[in-house]
Amino acid sequence: EKGGYDHFMLKEIYEQPRSIRDCLRGRIYPEEGKVQLGGIKEFVDKLKNIDRIIIVACGTSWHAGLVGEYLIEEYARIPVEVEYASEFRYRNPIITEKDVVIAISQSGETADTMAAIEMAKEKGATIFGICNVVGASIPRLTHAGVYTHAGPEIGVASTKAFTAQVTVLTLIAFYIGQQRGTITSSKLIELLTELDSIPDKIQIALKSNDIVKEISEKFKDSRNCLFLGRGSGFPVALEGALKLKEISYIHAEGYPAAEMKHGPIALIDEEMPVVVIATKNSSYEKVISNIQEVKARKGVVIAIVTEGDIEVKKMADYCIEIPDANEAFLPLLATIPLQLLSYHIAVLRGCNVDQPRNLAKSVTVE
Ligand code: F6R
Repeated sequence: EKGGYDHFMLKEIYEQPRSIRDCLRGRIYPEEGKVQLGGIKEFVDKLKNIDRIIIVACGTSWHAGLVGEYLIEEYARIPVEVEYASEFRYRNPIITEKDVVIAISQSGETADTMAAIEMAKEKGATIFGICNVVGASIPRLTHAGVYTHAGPEIGVASTKAFTAQVTVLTLIAFYIGQQRGTITSSKLIELLTELDSIPDKIQIALKSNDIVKEISEKFKDSRNCLFLGRGSGFPVALEGALKLKEISYIHAEGYPAAEMKHGPIALIDEEMPVVVIATKNSSYEKVISNIQEVKARKGVVIAIVTEGDIEVKKMADYCIEIPDANEAFLPLLATIPLQLLSYHIAVLRGCNVDQPRNLAKSVTVE
């Protein structure tokens, strides 16, 4: 049932080219520059005129929501707020009939996310779901939704469900952008053509497995680890840190790279591995100076870089290459080596990768 893999988590990491392909199927038409989302089609007029979108979720799904914020603001030009469901539900938030709330949940059963939906619904908001488990409670509570179609996820740590959530959010951003005219059709043709090739690029990113395994040997006994990224690399850093802590029990924190100097920099010494998302995109130069700051304090830098990178390689202790891609798709690719890193470190530490202590696959109590 693990298809020859040692753990479900590894199997699910390797399934991602296929799960993303399944998620895209029937939804993108690159040649025509068209996105089709049957699930939310009837709300298209509402989406054309909304003032803001609120995303609610927990854990990894909340990280996907943060990526969604970047994408929706960039391509649909609608302000987005991303909320922890547990905080949102108890805060007496301001919600009106004009709002669209997007609830993200792999299991579709998370108690806090369900309660947040119920509250927003009572206040008249339109609720969309992004869920993986078909027919779960959340899809039944929402007005409309888009399934991730990642297939069953058995490993407690979310991997393929996360990338499928990000894929759906990308589609939603493009779909609304297409309807509102905030993306030109030529741009959409270009983006969708590239999105169509992302499963193949994920396949290439998976080839980093051997080098990631070697790096894991070096850091398996670390007690702490910092993850840094900018832009949509920031939620990727958060997700990398969460994965590492939940399955290997190493204390890890994710930060926007520029926040480092406002506190976490005090932690850096030769014992501190710092994983940096340093791919070639609009924040590349800024990230390079953050790497220099870490190196100046003797931190050990593990960088996720774009294939063929030269600059970061001069500074970082270890580099993991991923294929070049439009910034919109960076989270889908940069996440892959971080999943592998947490997996190998956990295996080397003898941890129960698929069933980490104290965690459950669906959190049905608040
Ligand atoms: C992390 C993880 C959890 C879940 C969170 C939300 O790997 O699995 O953080 O993401 O419990 O679960 P869902 O998405 O089922 O609502």
